Amino acid sequence: MEEASNEPNGPPWTGEGPVRLVKTGIEGLDELLGGGFDEGSVILLAGPHGSGKTILAAQFIYNGVVKCNEVGIYISFSESKSDFFRNMLRLGMDFSRLEKEGKFRFIDALNVLDRRALDLVFSHILEELSAIDFKRMVVDSLTAIERIIDPGELRAFITATIIGICKINKITGLLIRDVIPESPNGVNSEVSFMADAVLVLEAQRLGEVTQRFLRVEKVRGRRTTYSKVEYVITDRGIVMHTPVRSLAAVKLDGDVGIGVPDFDRKILMGGVKRGTITLISGPVGTGKKVILAEFAVSGVLNGERVLYVTYRDAVDEVRRFFSDLGHDVEELEKKGLRIVYIDPSRNTPGRNYLALKEAYEAHRPDRVVIDEISIMDWLPRGEYVRLLNDMISFFKSKGATVMMSASVDLTKSMDNEVAKVVDNVIAMWVERERGSMDRRICTLKMKGKAHDDKIRRIEYKEGGIEVKDLDIY
Ligand SMILES: Nc1ncnc2c1ncn2[C@@H]1O[C@H](COP(=O)(O)OP(=O)(O)O)[C@@H](O)[C@H]1O
Ligand SMILES: [Mg+2]
Repeated sequence: MEEASNEPNGPPWTGEGPVRLVKTGIEGLDELLGGGFDEGSVILLAGPHGSGKTILAAQFIYNGVVKCNEVGIYISFSESKSDFFRNMLRLGMDFSRLEKEGKFRFIDALNVLDRRALDLVFSHILEELSAIDFKRMVVDSLTAIERIIDPGELRAFITATIIGICKINKITGLLIRDVIPESPNGVNSEVSFMADAVLVLEAQRLGEVTQRFLRVEKVRGRRTTYSKVEYVITDRGIVMHTPVRSLAAVKLDGDVGIGVPDFDRKILMGGVKRGTITLISGPVGTGKKVILAEFAVSGVLNGERVLYVTYRDAVDEVRRFFSDLGHDVEELEKKGLRIVYIDPSRNTPGRNYLALKEAYEAHRPDRVVIDEISIMDWLPRGEYVRLLNDMISFFKSKGATVMMSASVDLTKSMDNEVAKVVDNVIAMWVERERGSMDRRICTLKMKGKAHDDKIRRIEYKEGGIEVKDLDIY
């Protein structure tokens, strides 16, 4: 990565040269901030209860020590030291170790209930500052201080005491503020006016789950994107959802099939191009899963690594399905097949993307199967389309050849989100004929290849998949 101070839009310049950037070390957040916070700046972090403010602030301090060797201090009016240490340890941050090493101080101000006690806390902090070279400070939270001193004094207290400490000592300060949703003086308070930067955490309901967003509302002297970005709280703390935006797909040679000569020749025109994304569409009962399974198997038999993502069935059900098709699933798993379940209903687009990315990175597959993507279409259309695009850009940037299924009948409508964004589209459907159900298949789209528009019959037999031309009447 480029050194932050060499950035084209550059940090603000002071008389002494460029301001040093203080990185949060949070995946995706520093990029969003244009490199990090300016040293000595005061940042307001506002958000509703449970939005992850304490976690984000803890990561800011923890990463400061671990990644940048900068000593931090955390002043908490809302959590006891033991609660804070225990909660953060669950997220992989061992503050007691940092404290022992002299790199971290926690000030427990839980019992501070009046002005006198508050002043004592800060005079104590000033003493510490003369002995230790703190670089980062968190005040959790201003809301608690607002309850202690009367509104008339608040502004002076924040400016003189908190901001003063930061500016004089070149400490980067993160001030937390609880926001009561829909409160008129929520974020647009005097505090945000005084702060050098304002980060706002927001949430929205998505079905059963909460989708969280971080918005950079202002950064003094800096150009930022100001768009809201989804973040997820994981057992490693906060992770920003910053998908690959590059259009540069990895270019690969060769074609990839499902290992059934008839199908590969007639339907895939010799095979889909390596590194492309294929949709197998069709309503229930058209045999999409058989095709996906054969695609996975032929990959493994080819010496490739294959990731099979299941959104609907449990991993064991998928294993059984492979066995029912006559494959030795244990052998396949030894050779490079990995089956992973992702829970669709509890996943926001950000969580989904992260789960796919982690599954990818843990296995580094050449082929990826997703059964079935349309299960995510409970998402609002915009979110669904964005998720699809993000997934596709990710897999393309990795050069993975992807085959995914969707429960849709494209003969009824081609206006389908998935069909639009993928490279290759195979449509399947069922027709009632002469007292039986006939499965039909047709190639609708095939990147970089000429294909015919023939509708064919597809049959699944003991011996495998058969693709037949229809009788010409
Ligand atoms: N391991 C975890 N995985 C997912 N979410 C978590 C995890 N640990 C805590 N959370 C979530 O983090 C939120 C609490 O974060 P916190 O920083 O204390 O919020 P705030 O300070 O804004 O009130 C809760 O919504 C909780 O569900
Ligand atoms: Mg908190």
